Amino acid sequence: MTSTSPCPKPIDASAFRGRPVGPCVIVIFGATGDLAARKLIPALANLAGDGLVPDEFAVLGVATRPWTDEDFRQHVAGSLDGSQAGTAWPKVRSWLLGRLYYLSGDFHADETYRRLKVRLEEMDRRHGAGGSHVYYLATAPGFFAEVPAQLGRAGLLEEDDQRWQRVIVEKPFGSDWASARQLNRSLAGQLQERQIYRIDHYLGKETVQNILALRFANGIFEPIWRREYIDHVQITAAESLGVEERGRYYDQAGALRDMVPNHLFQLLTLVAMEPPSSFDAQAVRDEQVKVLKAVRPLSLEGVAQTAIRGQYGEGVLDGQRVLPYRAENHVAPQSRTPTFVALELEIESWRWSGVPFYLRTGKRLARRVTEIAIRFKQAPLALFRATSVDHVSDNWLVLRLQPEEGISLSFGAKVPGPSLRLGHVNMEFCYEDYFGRKPQTGYERLLYDAMLGDATLFQRSDMVETSWKIVAPVLEAWDADSPADFPNYAAGTWGPAAADELLVRHGRAWKTC
Ligand code: BG6
Repeated sequence: MTSTSPCPKPIDASAFRGRPVGPCVIVIFGATGDLAARKLIPALANLAGDGLVPDEFAVLGVATRPWTDEDFRQHVAGSLDGSQAGTAWPKVRSWLLGRLYYLSGDFHADETYRRLKVRLEEMDRRHGAGGSHVYYLATAPGFFAEVPAQLGRAGLLEEDDQRWQRVIVEKPFGSDWASARQLNRSLAGQLQERQIYRIDHYLGKETVQNILALRFANGIFEPIWRREYIDHVQITAAESLGVEERGRYYDQAGALRDMVPNHLFQLLTLVAMEPPSSFDAQAVRDEQVKVLKAVRPLSLEGVAQTAIRGQYGEGVLDGQRVLPYRAENHVAPQSRTPTFVALELEIESWRWSGVPFYLRTGKRLARRVTEIAIRFKQAPLALFRATSVDHVSDNWLVLRLQPEEGISLSFGAKVPGPSLRLGHVNMEFCYEDYFGRKPQTGYERLLYDAMLGDATLFQRSDMVETSWKIVAPVLEAWDADSPADFPNYAAGTWGPAAADELLVRHGRAWKTC
């Protein structure tokens, strides 16, 4: 008798909810900004809707505007309209709005923190939050050292057996190695490393977390996840948007600082790391850091061959004419800031020696797509030599992060008919089809983990510093040699020609173009 396994059925993701976090108050510095209204409060509402936040919970927004609790509630209420469908939603919405408070104050003034202490004690009592607090720094980077120092001075970071204190720091974490190190030192003066949560919102994306599941929960991938079978890896984070209203920040930062040492390196480490001994924060992050430390250092002279920069000129996107970067709001008319970067990196390890990792990211590219494409080595042509097949198929495994989250595997298959012809086919897995759940804001998982005290998906101090060290020669070389050819790609294209040449010279090409 033969037995067959049943075909797996789509899984209802809502059946796999975690446990609720413990009592606490989240304090959001910079609460009147975009991040709080667009991402943080909706993410907290989604967590509450999933039953992951207890009744003993409240949120305190802190910012300079002279608002009342009611003003703050009204400000964020709009972002909760229609965030989630379902009959329970109005209840969740009013539950959360009833737990929102606001404190107006100058982040530099000691007096703000004295009032904060009184306000928190009051809220802790009213909501039974137990004195445990998450301080979320959704502020300008200039406050990342100042606010924790003030919190420390005001006695707001003290812990005991009953209550914990944690600080979430948004990006950008420094603007180079020296400033990141200085910030780490300053935070370490107030907090233990286990209390610091350096956020990288890419790690909140389901598919990013799924890289670990794909690699380590399946026996089929790991044996071929190495230099013997993989030709090269491409990591692309392409955006069709320009800099919108963020010109002031972006014109200082540029594409390299904005995306590479954080988001792209997180993807790189998850793809390239060795299996951790467990999934705890220490073990996973130890392996990630090992990857970063194994990246072959770039030399100043080598930068021209391995790092490509670009800036968009005017062009056409989705049928609309769009402005050049230099005409964007708050951007200098002669700006030399790169809006595109492509890098070729090598990881000097037993597993990856000789396998190039190509990374690229840019604004105003042809379309929005973030993906990791793994190109496997070709099968020998020998078997097909006597047939009409002159090119065996490329095998790609593509982990797509956005816009649709999923995984695809492409391979060659025989085209039906009397002659032997190969066709290129794709096996696709789409998250939403399978798990019936739309991606949320991406902040749910990160806020949930921070409230639980799990730092696995946050950057550790050594990760941040090592990442900046890798890109330091590129920053230095580019600072010393201002680009003469900017703008060098039209909006709506895939970046400068030099980015294609980076691969073409080794007989390769970008997968997505
Ligand atoms: C941010 C960058 O960290 O990530 C932005 O500062 C970029 O410039 C954004 O647009 C991309 O995030 P996502 O989730 O849209 O890919």
